[in-house]
Amino acid sequence: MSEELKLRILNKLESENSIADTKTVFVDVSPETILGALKSLESQEKVNYKTLTTEFWTIEAEGQDQIDNGSYEARIFYAVPAGEEGITIAELNSKYGKVANLGQGKAFQNKWVKKNGSSIVRLVDSIVDQIKADLEVVQATGTHPNTNVIRDLKRRSLIKQNKVLSYSVSKGANFSTELKKQATDLTVEMLHSGAWKNAEFKKFNFDSLGVNPSGGHLHPLMKVREEFRQIFFDTGFEEMPTNEFVVSSFWNFDALFVPQQHAARDLQDTFFLKEPAVATELPEFWETVKDVHEKGGYGSIGYRYPWSQEEAKKLVLRTHTTAVSSQMLHKLAQEPYRPAKYFSIDRVYRNEAVDATHLAEFHQVEGIIADKNMSLGSLIAFMDRFFQKMGITKLRFKPAYNPYTEPSLEIFSWHEGLNTWVEIGNSGMFRPEMLRPLGLEEGVQVAGFGLSLERPTMIKYGVDNIRALVGHKVDLGMVESNPACRLDKKMGKEVFQSAVETAN
Ligand code: PHE
Repeated sequence: MSEELKLRILNKLESENSIADTKTVFVDVSPETILGALKSLESQEKVNYKTLTTEFWTIEAEGQDQIDNGSYEARIFYAVPAGEEGITIAELNSKYGKVANLGQGKAFQNKWVKKNGSSIVRLVDSIVDQIKADLEVVQATGTHPNTNVIRDLKRRSLIKQNKVLSYSVSKGANFSTELKKQATDLTVEMLHSGAWKNAEFKKFNFDSLGVNPSGGHLHPLMKVREEFRQIFFDTGFEEMPTNEFVVSSFWNFDALFVPQQHAARDLQDTFFLKEPAVATELPEFWETVKDVHEKGGYGSIGYRYPWSQEEAKKLVLRTHTTAVSSQMLHKLAQEPYRPAKYFSIDRVYRNEAVDATHLAEFHQVEGIIADKNMSLGSLIAFMDRFFQKMGITKLRFKPAYNPYTEPSLEIFSWHEGLNTWVEIGNSGMFRPEMLRPLGLEEGVQVAGFGLSLERPTMIKYGVDNIRALVGHKVDLGMVESNPACRLDKKMGKEVFQSAVETAN
């Protein structure tokens, strides 16, 4: 079909050298179809074309009514009987309604009729309905030689202006009447057969917008993670290696001075491994940990129960990233003393009832600071500064309990929208019962805090079901289209003011 039209255009050019206006030559073809054919021919340099715009007038419904039934003023003239009596204005109005309203004035103006008391009588015997005649000219030709007529008909909303696009066409640099299929690629077959020598190649279209390049996209959770990492790096933290998801209960609990009877160590709360179920050995300082649990030390009387190696060897999916912090602090203690700031953001596992906002796994954001002469004030001051970087200025702390920190503080922030204080995290000063067995010397204190990554992400990106964020139901379109995360911008404040519960 379009090949046929292209040939028609080429043949017309061959015989007449140019086409002044496609509209008059290809009356049966729509302007869009013509343009498609011309663009294709132009890309092969067979033709050049220019766009022509033609304005023309068409008849509106009211105009058509006047062509069919006469102009309103003519209809009024014919409604007035010849003779002295004429017709009463009241009768004319009741019989002709709208037409009487609109046509009377013009009929008076044209001196076709006049008022005689309460009646209207004819002034002339016959009339010429010029409006109807003018409308018929416009209908037949699309315009009218008298521009005043056009203006008048348009003012009376009897005609409407329209535009058509058409094209003037001339021969291009490669003009011929032959249409060869153009090759889009140089193929192996063409090279083998030698067909490339005679092939005509399609030109590159440098105006084409092309396909959007697809690239890597960070998941929203990872965008928020990235933003957190930057805040940590900006404040001088080093990242902890968190690539071991399976740890011994020793690192997850015992080294953190969590007693072996603690509820968190129940099957209901923690995932224990079946195979292998236990670690082959415990770190060499295990006896120090056993002692502090059983008898205490460093000012503590301990828990006073028989500590079991077997219990400590049980392998678990780490329930918090503090299981990594404990190992990092032990490592730090092996070197000559230096202050240190560590953070991690990674996955942890809890054997929890799964619902719209809870999964059995989530990400924890954790920071720890080891230094001398630190106090609770240092921790509070640090958290003030840290959360300020995310746009959170109003913080409050509430005493809490963690087996591994004393004092422990739940972190609350003021939520402007909800008009209330909401919990955003958990923190504290690590106990000497935990730090000394790890090998940290007396006088070194460690402050720590933790929050979840999911809650702020869900709020930041307006996700109310965790399954839309994590798991097989995640929409990749959502991943690709979400903007980068800036916690201090726009929603940052809300995000963290309604953020984060970190359970013990
Ligand atoms: N481990 C704690 C939790 O899971 C968070 C925390 C980290 C608390 C460090 C104090 C110090 O909620």
